[in-house]
Amino acid sequence: MAGLIPQAFIDELVSRADIYEVINRRVPLKKAGREYKACCPFHNENTPSFTVSPAKGFYHCFGCGAHGTAISFLMEHDHLSFVEAVEALAAMLGLEVPRDESDRPVKRYDELFELTANVARRWQRQLAAHTPAVDYLKQRGIDGVTAKRFGIGYTTDAWSDVLDRYGTDSAAIERLLAAGLIIRKDNGRHYDRFRDRLMFPIRDARGRTIGFGGRTLGDGEPKYLNSPETVLFHKGRELYGLYEARQALRSIERLVVVEGYMDVVALARHGIDFAVATLGTATTPEHLNRLFRLTDNVDFCFDGDRAGEQAAWRALETALPLVREGRQVRFVFLPDRHDPDSFVNDHGADAFVAALDAGVTLADYLIGELESQVDRDSADGLARLGELARPLIGRMSEGFHREVLLKKLADAVDLPVEKLEKLMKTGRTGEPAGQRKPRPAGIRRASMPRGPSMIRRAIALLLNHPAAGANVDPAKLSELERPGASLLVRLIETVRAEPNITTAGLIEHFRHDEEGRHLGKLAAAELPPGDDFDPGAELAHCLTRLGQTANEDRIEFLIQKQRDGSLDGDGIAELRRLLKGRKAVARTPA
Ligand code: UTP
Ligand code: MN
Repeated sequence: MAGLIPQAFIDELVSRADIYEVINRRVPLKKAGREYKACCPFHNENTPSFTVSPAKGFYHCFGCGAHGTAISFLMEHDHLSFVEAVEALAAMLGLEVPRDESDRPVKRYDELFELTANVARRWQRQLAAHTPAVDYLKQRGIDGVTAKRFGIGYTTDAWSDVLDRYGTDSAAIERLLAAGLIIRKDNGRHYDRFRDRLMFPIRDARGRTIGFGGRTLGDGEPKYLNSPETVLFHKGRELYGLYEARQALRSIERLVVVEGYMDVVALARHGIDFAVATLGTATTPEHLNRLFRLTDNVDFCFDGDRAGEQAAWRALETALPLVREGRQVRFVFLPDRHDPDSFVNDHGADAFVAALDAGVTLADYLIGELESQVDRDSADGLARLGELARPLIGRMSEGFHREVLLKKLADAVDLPVEKLEKLMKTGRTGEPAGQRKPRPAGIRRASMPRGPSMIRRAIALLLNHPAAGANVDPAKLSELERPGASLLVRLIETVRAEPNITTAGLIEHFRHDEEGRHLGKLAAAELPPGDDFDPGAELAHCLTRLGQTANEDRIEFLIQKQRDGSLDGDGIAELRRLLKGRKAVARTPA
């Protein structure tokens, strides 16, 4: 979809947008030197580490690592899609977003939101008028206030209630279809998707209704019917109850992920306002990122049955790459086939919170689960444990949590940590070190400047000081076959073509690029240098060194060929030339 908006427009939009203006409207900023500061809107903090640089068009939080352009900010803060963020930004500047009209999708979001809001209200009125539905809610312990807070409604058993009321012309019918509220039959006629169900509106971060979940009042199948994926509703992204939690809580200390709509609502009824549910899907990294932006403490509380256990394990696998310093993930298993709804109704809110507090940490859950799969009393079993753990630990980033996990695992298999780490690195855990495969010849590294970090440095320099690249020549890099080299060349070419491009402009330019989509992270990771620093000279220096690296790689390659006896006359001449050049460089004082 993003491809429908011309890149040139996005480049221009980002260079014209005032990121200060965009953010300050949502998070009041205070001036600090050339930049602005605030307490980070993406995590809880008391001292401001959220920094906005109008010159770069970039924001960065030194606390939680959040970063990006005005477009990213709108996406993350207002939970907009990329296209919506572009539209919002363009609207602020009074610009019309140009489109490739040839295949423009039908998506008039505002009209769709108006429609879902109207339907939700209609269903709320129908609930009040339908005694069996009200009784059902009462019998499940939900009072009127809670039902209202969550906008719970009821849809009658008619086949065309919504269709008749809102599908008054063909455009209106298209909207009903786009919102997932009606279904088209093969013969071209339509009928209501949801009939005779208790309806739970699913809201986005701004409280707009993007979809629904509908529960039968009896034992009909399926128990829950959900909106399909639509332009408004993406299950892998949305969390039921998140909007309501943010409305209810001034600051979010913790969030607990549960399985069902009724779990969220029942917990809220008991004053536990920090529960959210995935929508009949596994927990995705997008879900987790969204949660971690709001709090460092995320608990998973799944049902005490087999399906709940499986969901918990998948959540663990998803969480592994995302745990890091300060973040706490716990797993809570309720006793006796309870789910959070039945548990809180039987035992009350305090008991539920106590159960959460007694949850196991990610490390304990992981090791406990693996231990239960092997025979701990045999050497083979312990080796197997290490083997099972290896890919899981491999998914974690370096740091505190990984250390803790390694330590615990080492204790479990009764080995010193260093030995365990070594074993983990070598493939099979039980394999003696002496039988390790030797590194294949020819993968020997050139001993000269370390390629990747130098490339990284050059890219970071360019990102933070695009003007520095305006006069450099990327030609000598074309030979360099190292990760990131071609991205660096393309960055230089972009800067040369658009000398006024900003940091944000570069990041947006490469947002949809396989190699370049992580540029934001790199721009944020690099510390801003002091004032007595010449980015142009620094960049030139990096490029010279990289040029040398390219030569060294080439020399290495030619020497290898010579050893194989496959170097021809031209190759020999080239090798001589390169070696001579290297001597000349060595003689030049640094
Ligand atoms: P559960 O079967 O655990 O239901 O499904 P529940 O939440 O305990 O519901 P009650 O208490 O019987 O009312 C958990 C979640 O899985 C999805 C829904 O999101 C539900 O809340 N689900 C379940 C469906 O989407 N369809 C189904 O048919 C069942
Ligand atoms: Mn339940």
